[in-house]
Amino acid sequence: MKPNLKLNLKPLDLNKYKQRLIKHEDYQDVCQISKDIWDGGDYLPKVFHEWVDSPGLFVGIEDTIKKQIVAVGKYSYLPDKTGLIEGLRVHSEYRGEGLSWQVDLPIFNKALEDKKNGTVDRIANCTHILNKVSLHMSKKVGFREYQKYLCLELNSEEIDCKQVSIENWEPTYEEILMQPYFKNTNNHIAQNFLVQRMTKDLFKELKKRAHFALVDGYPGFLDNNHGNYCVSLVPTAVAQYKWLKYSAQKLNSHNVLSFVYPDKSVINELKTLPVRTWVDFEPDLVYLVF
Ligand SMILES: CC(C)(COP(=O)(O)OP(=O)(O)OC[C@H]1O[C@@H](n2cnc3c(N)ncnc32)[C@H](O)[C@@H]1OP(=O)(O)O)[C@@H](O)C(=O)NCCC(=O)NCCS
Repeated sequence: MKPNLKLNLKPLDLNKYKQRLIKHEDYQDVCQISKDIWDGGDYLPKVFHEWVDSPGLFVGIEDTIKKQIVAVGKYSYLPDKTGLIEGLRVHSEYRGEGLSWQVDLPIFNKALEDKKNGTVDRIANCTHILNKVSLHMSKKVGFREYQKYLCLELNSEEIDCKQVSIENWEPTYEEILMQPYFKNTNNHIAQNFLVQRMTKDLFKELKKRAHFALVDGYPGFLDNNHGNYCVSLVPTAVAQYKWLKYSAQKLNSHNVLSFVYPDKSVINELKTLPVRTWVDFEPDLVYLVF
């Protein structure tokens, strides 16, 4: 797993560290890494075993003296022929030593190889706009920012949604593609801090796990893949607000997000509704492609 990019990086100290694939037995070490990340809200322990078993590459750096995994990163395949670089983590006591590069580069090289041989047609990475380290690393190897989205949630007092009418909706793939949402996003969809192109395979996955409906006539769906997210397929401010309200009522929780394409007029209208964003109506999620 040797990187072939010339980035003048510090080599791995082989007296202390070893690069290797992550195994199921590394679970506790990864929980130790995650406990200090995003106030303990890191999703990595939840997806850990799935990631070990899934295709791609799940790479770690082991502190060979302590026999402990101290850094990890994952390469995954999305249904839209994208190779996704995700899950980069370094234990808080091991930061600043360049270990992130030691997991990032083998993953990136595998992605480059896949792109060269046609296994994927795009390499992607999603991060928060304030995550300077992540943005720096992605741009340093040549990723460019492709799209941005805002994280939207309800103001906490807003849960009662008796005024919305709900109808079942069983869309076909063709009906989904015709929704105005996809015109704004150039056929991409943002959920779960992840952006990808809408494809038949993704639609099949969504049909299995998501709840499709018309909320006051607005088509959309509520999904729960590692968190609760709703998508209003009519991307007006009112429709997105109604979908958040309906989802909160259905889940009996405010713990539901919607990712909003930053259309200026939509954002201005959202400011008049009882919703909030993470960073003052500025984009949160950055989707980078290579
Ligand atoms: C992001 C993370 C993996 C970085 O780990 P790390 O190994 O300590 O990173 P390093 O300190 O070695 O820095 C990596 C690069 O970022 C640069 N960097 C560090 N701080 C920076 C900042 N504030 N702004 C811009 N670049 C910065 C470093 O200079 C280095 O780049 P270089 O080699 O070109 O000089 C680690 O902080 C972490 O686990 N954070 C929590 C999870 C997370 O945010 N993951 C990434 C998004 S999914």
